[in-house]
Parts: sequence; structure tokens; C-alpha cells
Amino acid sequence: MYAVLDFAHHLTARALGAGAVAVDATVGNGHDTLHLAEAVGADGRVHGFDTQPLALKRTRQRLATAGVAERVLLHEASHATLAGTLPAEVHGHVGAVMFNLGYLPGGDHTITTTPDTTVQALQQALTLLEAGGVVTVVLYAGHPGGAAEARAVTDWAAALDQEAVQVLSYRFLNQVNAPPALLALHSHPA
Ligand SMILES: C[S@@+](CC[C@H](N)C(=O)[O-])C[C@H]1O[C@@H](n2cnc3c(N)ncnc32)[C@H](O)[C@@H]1O
Repeated sequence: MYAVLDFAHHLTARALGAGAVAVDATVGNGHDTLHLAEAVGADGRVHGFDTQPLALKRTRQRLATAGVAERVLLHEASHATLAGTLPAEVHGHVGAVMFNLGYLPGGDHTITTTPDTTVQALQQALTLLEAGGVVTVVLYAGHPGGAAEARAVTDWAAALDQEAVQVLSYRFLNQVNAPPALLALHSHPA
């Protein structure tokens, strides 16, 4: 089945080139972090955020196995600290930021992203983007709290000034049981 996450990977890879800077705002098991690390190449840099040590441990292992660990900085911190944590010199030079909301698969399903901190982090992510950069957000409405978070993020994104950012939505129209959906926030090219 073609997943929305594949499309998030497509959009972020398109926005990144060798030597680019990318952010994974929800590291989890590290699949997206690895994707970003491969997309930026050996001279690039990925910053990853997660509040759970288990997620960072699994991701460190995944990155080491793939031989890309040295191009990734993992922060055990909330993505609500995104702008303050990233060095000033990369502000305005980030090519892609990925959010993959919800809980850690294979972890504690009661620890999830939350609407307030997610929207705060998204606001910060937009300020970090370079021209032509993208923020992707995969929304899961199927777990407790997920629908409210998806609504909060969608409402926030729909109200963004179209002169500053283009907001696109990619979602299933014919799948039952609250399938995931993707929002992509594109800053205008230079
Ligand atoms: C669906 S998982 C991410 C999947 C991941 N991108 C991957 O490729 O495996 C969501 C992650 O968000 C993390 N999370 C929850 N609240 C967070 C926050 N405030 N800041 C950063 N990460 C958070 C959870 O700990 C969980 O690992």
C-alpha cells in the first residue's frame, strides 16, 4: 500500500541536497532520521528531537548500523525547544523538517505528541526554513488524543498566510479507520 510517509520522504528528499541541514522533530525509531541523513549526505547535518531515551537509543543504533551517525545530532528534548536548540547559523538555512506525530511504535503508547507543543514546534520550524524548504507533518487520528491533535494542527496550518507559506494536504479519501494524513508546508522558492 502506498503510504503517506513515502510521500513525506519524497517531498523532503526533493527539498534537500548534499550538505543540507534537516530536522527530525519526532525521532521515534529513527526511520525518518535515517532517511534525512541519507538525503543530506556526508557533508550535511540532521538534528533529531525526542523526549524518550528509548527512541534515541534505538535510533543511535540504526544510524550506526547504516554508517551515518556522525552527520546526526540527537537531542533528548522536546521539539518545543527547536529554535533555541539549533545553532543560530542554521536559522533560515534548514531545508526540511519532518514531524511524525503520535506515540513511539514498540514503546509506551500513552506518551504521545500533544497539540500545544506540536503547534509551538511547527511555528518555530517555519522560522528555520530556507527559501524552498518544506515542513512535513504526518497526522494520526486513530489513537486517543490523535484526532484532537490532527484538528489543532490542521486548523493552525489552514490559517497560515499564503504569502508566507503554501499548505498542501495529502490524504486517503477511501480508507476506513482513521488513516494517517500528511500536511506539507512549503516556503516559497527564492
Ligand atoms: C510516531 S513516533 C515517530 C516515528 C519516527 N519518526 C520514526 O521514523 O520511527 C512519535 C515520536 O514523537 C515523540 N515525541 C512525543 N512528544 C515529543 C516532543 N514534545 N518532542 C519531541 N518528540 C516527541 C515520541 O516520543 C515518539 O517517539
